[in-house]
Amino acid sequence: MRIDIITVVPELLASPLNESILKRAQESGHAEIYVHNLRDYTDDKRRTVDDYPFGGEAGMVMKIEPVYRCIEKLKAERDYDEIIFTSPDGITYNQHEANRLSLMKNIIILCGHYKGIDYRIREHLITREISIGDYVLTGGELAACVIADSVVRIIPGAIGDEASALTDCFQDNLLAPPVYTRPAEFNGWKVPEVLLSGNFAQIEKWQDEQAYSRTKALRPDLIEE
Ligand code: ADE
Repeated sequence: MRIDIITVVPELLASPLNESILKRAQESGHAEIYVHNLRDYTDDKRRTVDDYPFGGEAGMVMKIEPVYRCIEKLKAERDYDEIIFTSPDGITYNQHEANRLSLMKNIIILCGHYKGIDYRIREHLITREISIGDYVLTGGELAACVIADSVVRIIPGAIGDEASALTDCFQDNLLAPPVYTRPAEFNGWKVPEVLLSGNFAQIEKWQDEQAYSRTKALRPDLIEE
């Protein structure tokens, strides 16, 4: 899978995209992630990417031309399955959307910034608008990292232990059951007996029950879905 991220602050993306699972997925060829500096697509000396809004409101607006040039250049090189814009007024991101995106071949993520973006970009170039939650970030870069991270880790083969991605929280709309490791007792705090029993049928039953009861207690909305 290939992910092209367009941003005015490429520095913000470097570390999150180049460590741990994302780093390994790129090294093993399961994912390619490219970061494009929007300022490279400007045509003035000051590399301007924003301008005052028509109508005189406060704040700056991302200009249409650099975004158009960058997206059109990428589109001329390959077909894209989705061109995503990160914005607090997009659809709320969740595991279903991550699963859906992980099956795609090429996606672009355009990071929003400033007060907003010339709306014609959203009308004519963007195919999906995604918010990572009902709060406002300084820009869409952190949202792009969240999307890239959650998508790349579930690309088949990207994590060594594939089973572990399938038992993640939210797969099947359930929270994950609790997990424990050695020692079996610490400070008098004991690991549930069943996990030490070696009876895998019993262990699986316990895990299913825990996943269901935790979801019912903490996120009943997931079960209603
Ligand atoms: N940009 C600013 N806030 C955002 C959010 N909550 N989700 C996605 N992009 C954003």
